[in-house]
Amino acid sequence: RQKKEAWERKPERKLITSKFAERKRTMEWKQIFADAIFAAMKKTALEKKVMYSLIEHPKHEQHGDLAFPCFQLAKHLRKAPNKIAEELAANLSNSYIEKAEAVGPYVNVFFHKATAGRDILTEILSEQGEYGSSKQRGKGKVVIDFSSPNIAKPFSMGHLRSTVIGQALANLAEKNGYQAVKINHLGDWGTQFGKLMAAYKKWGDERELKAQPISTLLKLYVRFHEEAENNPKLLAEGRQWFQRLETKDREAEALWRWFRDESIKAFEKVYQLLGITFDAVQGESFYNDRMSAVVKELEDKHLLEESDGAKVVQAGDDMPPCLIQKTDGTTLYATRDLAAALYRKQEYDFASCMYVVGGEQQLHFQQLFAVLEKMGYSWAGDLVHVPFGLILKDGKKMSTRKGKIIFLERVIQEAIDKAKKNILEKNPQLPDIGEVAEQVGVGAVIFHDLKNERMGNVEFNVNHMLTFEGETGPYVQYTAARAQTLLEKARLKEGGSAAEMETVTMVDEEAWEVIKLLEQFPSEVVRAYESLEPSVIAKYLVRLSQAFNSYYGKVKILSGDAMERSRLAVAGSVIIVLKEGLRLLNIQSPQKM
Ligand code: ARG
Repeated sequence: RQKKEAWERKPERKLITSKFAERKRTMEWKQIFADAIFAAMKKTALEKKVMYSLIEHPKHEQHGDLAFPCFQLAKHLRKAPNKIAEELAANLSNSYIEKAEAVGPYVNVFFHKATAGRDILTEILSEQGEYGSSKQRGKGKVVIDFSSPNIAKPFSMGHLRSTVIGQALANLAEKNGYQAVKINHLGDWGTQFGKLMAAYKKWGDERELKAQPISTLLKLYVRFHEEAENNPKLLAEGRQWFQRLETKDREAEALWRWFRDESIKAFEKVYQLLGITFDAVQGESFYNDRMSAVVKELEDKHLLEESDGAKVVQAGDDMPPCLIQKTDGTTLYATRDLAAALYRKQEYDFASCMYVVGGEQQLHFQQLFAVLEKMGYSWAGDLVHVPFGLILKDGKKMSTRKGKIIFLERVIQEAIDKAKKNILEKNPQLPDIGEVAEQVGVGAVIFHDLKNERMGNVEFNVNHMLTFEGETGPYVQYTAARAQTLLEKARLKEGGSAAEMETVTMVDEEAWEVIKLLEQFPSEVVRAYESLEPSVIAKYLVRLSQAFNSYYGKVKILSGDAMERSRLAVAGSVIIVLKEGLRLLNIQSPQKM
């Protein structure tokens, strides 16, 4: 293992002196523009907020930095949009805005590149990783129920999606001023464990189970179902075992605990690889002693109905009733989720509670929310199901049924191995190849998922994930590392001494695309959270990387002339924002790659 260079161990050095540290976030350009339009209007026709929401980013450079379409105003003012655009353009004034032009029904504005650019760079360099964070903190707690795999079963691709999306949403919540409470609602209770115990007692082997817990348990489960097709007596045995578990029979409990512990150990490995932690593991079993209270409350509120011996609650005209208790008295998934919601409200008094669970469970959550509403809880409106699409392999759903499974741990390991191979080819001298390969491999898996809109399906392809060229995690990481190298070179050139940047005085034309994107980061952070779409950040990072790489191709950054400082400021700002964006997605940034 090679020794690290001294500068690698040092924390990121600030590029700017404290002179600017107390600076407030300069106003968002869209806001500046909206305010300017508002001020230029003779009478109030639209609210500022509405104006703000209408502002567009023009596709072509010649149409300026931002554009405002006048159609809505035209409706309110009963005037031609082109005419309004002309009047607005003539009256618009703000020190940030260099020029306003009416083009047809649009007002296009051009910002002062030197002023606006310099202010953004200065802000990023002084705020560092805090750039884009909500200035308002303490907005309340957000409970995020995510990952939540089922014990005795492999960690599925669906759980992978829930895990990476959930963690990213937690990071985004924090960045937006909330406190995230991350909960793993482990699937650790239910009739399936009765079946598993029955199967284990019949065919199980302790040593095998200890050596290969998940696959052994899965095999037992599959065999149980196969044999039960010809031997229905088995099903009764399974039910009996579950009954024993519910009535706290010692043997049943010990078996259950064993299956659970082994499963958790296996999940732990995946969490470690992905760098995921939880504030609480409160699985379904956590609510065992709260079941009767829930059933009673439903009864007291006259919501419980008999249906073929089972107890149900009518959830609404447009959906089937919600099953609360089976004929044999056992409770269900939904009952436990009712208890969980009540518990969480009491324990965390959340501003909102999200369930990051695949789209297949949409009905379950609709029912859950409807029942809570019927119970009279107004906060039922603060519960959100955050669904997502499937992971496909060659266009087909990856399934865990019939034992046809892919072990996630293996998939991640494969990504790490491939990343290592790539690095060895490209950069065999790199120190800490093992560590970097892990950051790149894992980052690739996460980014590949998060760059897709949540509801879309994701095609699983390890080779695609790992290219350094496409819209991938490694591409973004590589861009940041490359910029990092530039800064290091600059520091070495100056003998590692005060490479501090006193002021960013100039901004070159070529950097403008990069600067415009840097300016958008804080609003992208808001947009990603409001739409619960980590993909907003992933896509943004790709755009910023592309813009920076093309800037890098156009100018010589270490030019040795008066421009060098401000070009380094651009590079430094890009590093900060790329790293922070990757962090929001729970991806690490290697210093070198
Ligand atoms: N264990 C469930 C499954 O794998 C997901 C649980 C999601 N969370 C919840 N509160 N229902 O399908």
